[in-house]
Amino acid sequence: MKRIAKWIACPKDMGSAAITFCSSFHPQKTVKKASFSASAMGIYAFYLNGERVGNGILTPGWTSYQHRVQYQTYDLTDLLRTENRLELGVAPGWAVGCIGYGHTNHFFADRPSVIAWMEVVYADGSTECLCTDESWQVYTSRIISSEIYHGETVDLTAPIKLIGNAEICRVKTRLIPQKGEWITEQERLMPVQILLTPKGERVIDFGQNMTGYVEVRARGKRGDRIVLHHAEVLDSEGNFYNENYRQARNENIYVLSGGEDLSKPTYSFQGFRYVRLTEYPHKKIDPADFCAVAVHSELKRTGEYRCGNAKINQLYHNILWGQKSNYLDIPTDCPQRDERLGWTGDAQIFYRAAAFNYDVERFFEKWLGDVALEQGEDGSVAGIVPHCLPGKRTRISAAWGDVATVVPWGLYVTYGSKRLLKKHFPMMKKWVNYIHSAGPEEFLWLGGKHYGDWLAMDNDPDRNDGATPTDFIASVYFLYSTRLLIKAGRVLGEDVKAYETLEKEILAALRVRYVREGDLRLVPNGWKEGDEEPNLKTQTAYVLALYFGICQKEEKQSFASRLAEMIRKNGTRMTTGFVGTPYILHALSQNGYTDLAYELLLQEKSPSWLYSVCHGATTMWEHWNSLKEDGSFWSTSMNSFNHYAYGAVLDWMVEVSAGITPIEEKPAYEELRIEPHPHSAIGFSDVMLKTRHGTVRSNWYYKGEKVFYEIEIPKGVKGHLRLPSGYTAVLGQGCHCFSE
Ligand code: BGC
Repeated sequence: MKRIAKWIACPKDMGSAAITFCSSFHPQKTVKKASFSASAMGIYAFYLNGERVGNGILTPGWTSYQHRVQYQTYDLTDLLRTENRLELGVAPGWAVGCIGYGHTNHFFADRPSVIAWMEVVYADGSTECLCTDESWQVYTSRIISSEIYHGETVDLTAPIKLIGNAEICRVKTRLIPQKGEWITEQERLMPVQILLTPKGERVIDFGQNMTGYVEVRARGKRGDRIVLHHAEVLDSEGNFYNENYRQARNENIYVLSGGEDLSKPTYSFQGFRYVRLTEYPHKKIDPADFCAVAVHSELKRTGEYRCGNAKINQLYHNILWGQKSNYLDIPTDCPQRDERLGWTGDAQIFYRAAAFNYDVERFFEKWLGDVALEQGEDGSVAGIVPHCLPGKRTRISAAWGDVATVVPWGLYVTYGSKRLLKKHFPMMKKWVNYIHSAGPEEFLWLGGKHYGDWLAMDNDPDRNDGATPTDFIASVYFLYSTRLLIKAGRVLGEDVKAYETLEKEILAALRVRYVREGDLRLVPNGWKEGDEEPNLKTQTAYVLALYFGICQKEEKQSFASRLAEMIRKNGTRMTTGFVGTPYILHALSQNGYTDLAYELLLQEKSPSWLYSVCHGATTMWEHWNSLKEDGSFWSTSMNSFNHYAYGAVLDWMVEVSAGITPIEEKPAYEELRIEPHPHSAIGFSDVMLKTRHGTVRSNWYYKGEKVFYEIEIPKGVKGHLRLPSGYTAVLGQGCHCFSE
């Protein structure tokens, strides 16, 4: 069967309106098998005989379109009739619409287009293929405007008009079959409250910050309008607040048909908890007419966390919903403002938490494919993938670009696929080589423009990059990525001798520059030997020095006690940002400060994980104090209430508190460590993880002073147990109980 499908577009510029490409098909004989494949520059929806086919939405998903675009295949064998109408609706979406905070239109293509082919095998063995070409007709649609950021306008009174025949167009990309998970509708949430705000606005509260859209059932006069605006929070007066969306309008408009209408966007989505009925034709609001539909990549749930502290359970809920909200085909930073981009740093920071909650192997295989395709010739990895900003790529920053090593290695440890590791190895190597040649020093990464310890609380309030010198962070990450490359190379039987030497050199250079007399000497960027030695100290620097072994064994205690002292001096609170936060509790508990780690985890004053919980959060916030103590907001320019990065703490809750830790040499949890660190402050912890080798469970609970443990190990798995008393055992299949 030869495919000769062509990319087709509308002969007229339709702006942000959705259009429909139509064709028909009459099977000549009895059909044995039929399938339809489609893709688009834009977002498409496929309808057969007026019905949407399949449950995938926002197809073809988001890839680096300049390199590749996915197509989806639908089985039509049981759906075809004697006469069939094929329709492909398409709207601008990520490829053509407004995207990136630079508000670029047409980043990947100048107008929406589609490509499709249908393959039919008849009972007699003959075949037929129907493809997109200039015979397809183009119609207007009732979706008169649709943009990812701005929402959708659906006019149910609008006439559908024939525009003309499709035009063949040239699209320079590669078609690939669906690689990632499908995006589908998931949870459906009903209003928890209908509010009349002090300003007199009618607002529906769905009780959960999320990504998706509101489905509205409405009866009204023909031409009546419903206008919905979205928000994540109310302000301190209880008024609707959406200034943090920046230029993203998040506005859905429905012009009613006069009958009973069920409306929702087809090609757009919003990040929200609240919806304002900016226009609504009825005085009375029936909550049953509104339903918030959460949409995200269809990932298989693997982990469950529960403990005896309600606030920590809420924190877990918020972390989980942060992931649901931001795993929409690619890992995004946030789902609401004019961003929603594949920020590499955020993805890297959150990987371990993400891989606890869900099976993320396929999801990341797809996105890392784009990271690799967008990697510079010099090995550089930018801040955002897919790249979609005009002009230059985003910064090449330490802790962001390191997604190229951290996630591939993480995937190997979680799922054990050598095939995948092998596929990613060249990207890992190129990234390390890039750092090696970046900057003036061979074994340190000095200079460059980095995001730093992003949003740390230890710098001037108008600075986002934290006080920890970026030269130090970048050099530590150089060491970290080199180590991951060596590990990967060893697994794959690659020659990594040169990198083993490199690793030693980096560590030595880090120590020469940053360690003096048993303490950190945190010199600022640009510092030269002989310059004055300022006494900079940040929590993040100590965290990194401890966690990545910059300090030697005998220095660990003093480093840890300095870190503990800084935390105590700060009212048992962190100051760490994106770089220090994922490791701070590990750095403490690995060095005898488990109690302090718990205190930090349970801290309720900002900056802390529970501060947002205590202030009603239902997802993770971008800043520790996105909503300040006095009720005001951090700022309008960069203040998301659905940013998962700080949710990285889940990794400590699972690996240290519950004690479920993978063993890198026996990946995919074929063997694992079970080393629980119980604490009476949270009463009990019950954590379950479905691994590729079966379900592991670690449950501990207090009865008086005594701690009871129940550990479940699946068949064929070895659990290396260590209890706080020092008791060790190797556990096989079954449920094992202990107390001490
Ligand atoms: C994003 C972040 C991202 C950062 C880069 C922000 O605008 O929302 O999460 O990592 O820029 O530093």
